[in-house]
Amino acid sequence: DESVVRRDRFSGGPARGFLSSLAADERIFEADLAVDRAHVVMLAEQGIVDDDVAGEILTALDAIEVDGHDSLPDGEDVHEAIETAVIERIGDDGGKMHTARSRNDEVAACIRYRLREDVLDAIETTLALREALVEVAEANAETIMPGYTHLQPAQPITVAHWALSYEGAVRRDTARLLEAYGRINESPLGGAAFAGTTFDIDRERTAELLGFAGVVENSMDASSSRDFLLETTQALSTHATTLSGLAEDVIVFANRGFVELSDDYSSTSSIMPQKKNPDTLELVRAVAGDAAGSVQGLTTTLKGLPRAYNRDLQRATTHAWETVDAVTDAGEVAAGAVATAEWNEETLAAEAGEGFSTATGVADVLAANGLPFRTAHELVAIAAENGADYDALETAAEDVLGEPLESVVDPAAVEAALDPAESVASRDSQGGPAPASVAAQLESAREALEA
Ligand code: ARG
Repeated sequence: DESVVRRDRFSGGPARGFLSSLAADERIFEADLAVDRAHVVMLAEQGIVDDDVAGEILTALDAIEVDGHDSLPDGEDVHEAIETAVIERIGDDGGKMHTARSRNDEVAACIRYRLREDVLDAIETTLALREALVEVAEANAETIMPGYTHLQPAQPITVAHWALSYEGAVRRDTARLLEAYGRINESPLGGAAFAGTTFDIDRERTAELLGFAGVVENSMDASSSRDFLLETTQALSTHATTLSGLAEDVIVFANRGFVELSDDYSSTSSIMPQKKNPDTLELVRAVAGDAAGSVQGLTTTLKGLPRAYNRDLQRATTHAWETVDAVTDAGEVAAGAVATAEWNEETLAAEAGEGFSTATGVADVLAANGLPFRTAHELVAIAAENGADYDALETAAEDVLGEPLESVVDPAAVEAALDPAESVASRDSQGGPAPASVAAQLESAREALEA
């Protein structure tokens, strides 16, 4: 068999290990068997190989599947090793399997086939996290907490409002992954090396057998494009960035005693016996760095590659596998940590008004009673410097307006604005933290989740 002779010549010598992707290809072992089967069935249906030869090849593939990836003969990659294993089992006719295709369209099909499954798993974890966030919101529609900007006390909100802020972000992450899925789910098989084939193949048929929604039409595009890898890795990296913010918030909240992580998502110290640390969330936070690194690595590898297939592509794939694994794990852990954490309502309520965080609401009341907002802002800012209470507001009113506070506004309205719970309840604009606004957001979140 001439091809075997040529393979012996191009064995790679000292560069063998460097060239080979066989170990890493374990990930696409099942995918390659599926791609081989679809291709062989199509070849038989098209009369390109005889039915009995096709049957023998399919039987050999079944046996190879049972033996597993570790039992494959040596090869430059899984595609070559499986073909060799087929030939070892049924003789030279096994070589008919590679009619009308190349490893270039084959590997592209395998990557897409496997990545499809992995991206669905990643999408599942985004749904689980959204579910956990919605449940936290449902249970805490009235749990007042401090809200921050620049990590400084800003305005009181509720735990529900905080949780739904992440639900919205993760919802978009799900949508981005589904978009990417749609473009992964196209078959490159039949593109051959890059330039098509003389055989009367049926690309739509192999696409159908492999469950792809359609084909990547141009054969050169099919065999050599990896933008689907980049898009998927980017979408995963965006999700990892969302997760890192969520993790950071919970770490800060745990630090302040607002929330207690379940022991399952905490670690202790090997020396300090009292410690309970949010290590899992710190690792979630770090995954964003890995994912961003993969996007960078992948982009740099793909940048400036000429058409059509170049072996650089073998190293591109790894970035996507690493990222999808890490981000899926991180999403699962984040969902679990959020679902099992206990919110400390008393501490949250006690801290909700910290740092005069009701100041904006007081300024709003003054503005609603006719003061220009800028004047109200100045008046409240002076009060903030001098005690941040009703008395301080009265003094500031005399200073700024030259008249008593109660001549501008009903004192009861000011007292209400100074109360964190009332402050939250009054911010009932669309998307705001008031329980009524949060109820509407919860409904959208539930609907989106069901969809
Ligand atoms: N193992 C390769 C990859 O992962 C596919 C092999 C194509 N080899 C070639 N010399 N054209 O991309």
